[in-house]
Amino acid sequence: MSAFSEWYKDKVVLVTGGTSGIGRQMVIRLCQWGAEVIVCGRDASRLDSLKADLSSKGHKLAASFLLDLTDVQQLQSMIKDIKQSYELDVLINNAGSGHVGDFDKMTNESREYLEKLNMQVVTILISSFFDRFKEKEGRGILNVGSVASFFPTPGSALYCGTKHFILGLTDSLHLELAPDHVHVTGVYPGKTHSRFVERATGGAEGEWKKAMDAGVVAERALRSLSENKAREIPGINNKVIVFIAKLLPTRLLFKLMAKRNVQK
Ligand SMILES: NC(=O)c1ccc[n+]([C@@H]2O[C@H](COP(=O)([O-])OP(=O)(O)OC[C@H]3O[C@@H](n4cnc5c(N)ncnc54)[C@H](OP(=O)(O)O)[C@@H]3O)[C@@H](O)[C@H]2O)c1
Repeated sequence: MSAFSEWYKDKVVLVTGGTSGIGRQMVIRLCQWGAEVIVCGRDASRLDSLKADLSSKGHKLAASFLLDLTDVQQLQSMIKDIKQSYELDVLINNAGSGHVGDFDKMTNESREYLEKLNMQVVTILISSFFDRFKEKEGRGILNVGSVASFFPTPGSALYCGTKHFILGLTDSLHLELAPDHVHVTGVYPGKTHSRFVERATGGAEGEWKKAMDAGVVAERALRSLSENKAREIPGINNKVIVFIAKLLPTRLLFKLMAKRNVQK
């Protein structure tokens, strides 16, 4: 076990969307490092396969919840159950969804769904456990953004907007909660192997061609939270992209991004 993983030992951690992709890889590591992990997702078969995977390694989840996080009643009921039975130390807001397609072609339902899952659920969960995090040192919040948090993404405008929200919220909370010694970190992945693209494109695309391993992204994110780093951009290519986007004058950045519509 590496030194930073010690930070998670005996901590109670909630991972939203822990049944697949980046979240699943976080859950596997957290269990190995001795954390008590609570997972939520929607798909029962994926949760069963995660449990079987953990069990084959001699681990088990502290608790699991099958729910659609965008259903506020179900979300509030999960929060109540967790508060009754656990003293949460770490909240990982990982569950999120993408959308590839023009903004004006989105239905009201798909817009509301994306706004709720990628933003409202995050703020409801943070505010529900806010006071608890401030009670004692060594607690934390990890929010999952995207490299798209740092520049415009034509062809995926609302998703991009929700991830800009994650950047602003997380950076500000990092500073706001520093006097209370609460760790607050944002992780901003680029293309990562998971079911994300398949879902964002409604099945039109299966996988990114060149993408990072979800386990590597998960481990970098968890390490950065333990160190209370404000921003983790996993992978050298992603770091370079974000660095260039920050350096470029806005007019030049927009010219470049206009040619990079994610649908084309
Ligand atoms: N993969 C990438 O290239 C990439 C790049 C940048 C940022 N990200 C971000 O990384 C995060 C994790 O995504 P991923 O790539 O690991 O995708 P993924 O494989 O699709 O995993 C998403 C997870 O979130 C859960 N989830 C989704 N909608 C939910 C809902 N309404 N209620 C409850 N759980 C829900 C899923 O559970 P079920 O399967 O049970 O629905 C699943 O466990 C997201 O916030 C995403 O925006 C991903």
